[in-house]
Amino acid sequence: MARQPRDSLTATVLSAGFLPERASSVAEGVDQVFGLIFWLSAFFLALIVALTVLFVVRYRRRPTRTEPEPSPSHDLRLELVWSGIPLALVFAIFAVSTRAYLRMTAPEPGPEAMRVQVTARRWSWWFEHPGGKGASDLHLVAGRPAALVMVSTDVIHSLYLPDFRLKQDVVPGRFTRLHLTPILAGTFPITCAEFCGTDHSRMTAKAVVHPDQASFDAWAREGAAPAASLADVGRALYASKGCIACHSLDGTPRVGPTFKNLWGKDEKLADGTSARVDEEYLRESILKPGAKVVAGFANVMPPVPLDEREMQGLAAWLQTLRDGP
Ligand code: CUA
Repeated sequence: MARQPRDSLTATVLSAGFLPERASSVAEGVDQVFGLIFWLSAFFLALIVALTVLFVVRYRRRPTRTEPEPSPSHDLRLELVWSGIPLALVFAIFAVSTRAYLRMTAPEPGPEAMRVQVTARRWSWWFEHPGGKGASDLHLVAGRPAALVMVSTDVIHSLYLPDFRLKQDVVPGRFTRLHLTPILAGTFPITCAEFCGTDHSRMTAKAVVHPDQASFDAWAREGAAPAASLADVGRALYASKGCIACHSLDGTPRVGPTFKNLWGKDEKLADGTSARVDEEYLRESILKPGAKVVAGFANVMPPVPLDEREMQGLAAWLQTLRDGP
């Protein structure tokens, strides 16, 4: 698979020569921050060590030692210089890292983005791709934005993609996300970066970045069709948990809002604010239905305890109830 050469001088300087390849669109920004801090630290380490050695030699105690000249206790110009220079340097680091951080926390990618549901558990990863294909490795397409929506079924884990320069905690009872665009085709390591028990160090997986959509589709068609995709799980819950009584699928409001075209919508709430219908909103509305009541509807829904897979299933199924992409 095609890989970018990484022997350019800038690349070597940025990564100080020992970071892995830059496989996502945010990686370069992270390496700029790393390179800046690394080389600044290297410079000051060298300066301080050199001056220490120089002063030790030059001002060592000699037999003919005389009392030192009285030195001034205060020098305003000197103090301004040694306060001003570090201040400018930390502001430079702040600026460079804020720029990289803003790029990383870019808003939700559009509908063309690939949504992958990630489940972390002791001690493995599970990735469910568009079309229902589940795998223990993450599959993405080079150049296509991706949204990873993550849950944990037990303790806190952390999805760490060193080549993508990305890391995100996966927290029980919450959906967390990572938005990224892979830029290199190839296979890259995934590890867990949050100590989660005995086999934490073996909680690894691979990120396979396909060179194009056709290659991904070919992989997704391989093997047997999944027994039940996440969306199937959600559809079954809709009937078995009784959501069907209050939430229609054809656009008619009943006791509660319809599920048709609900996903991704900005809902007007009874308290005058609004909320985007996404995984977190869904979780809250199921576990604490009174927290965000949609304007025009009464607060009558009982909490419905669901496990993580059921929660993911409902989210995946609601996404299929949209017209268009
Ligand atoms: Cu999961 Cu460490």
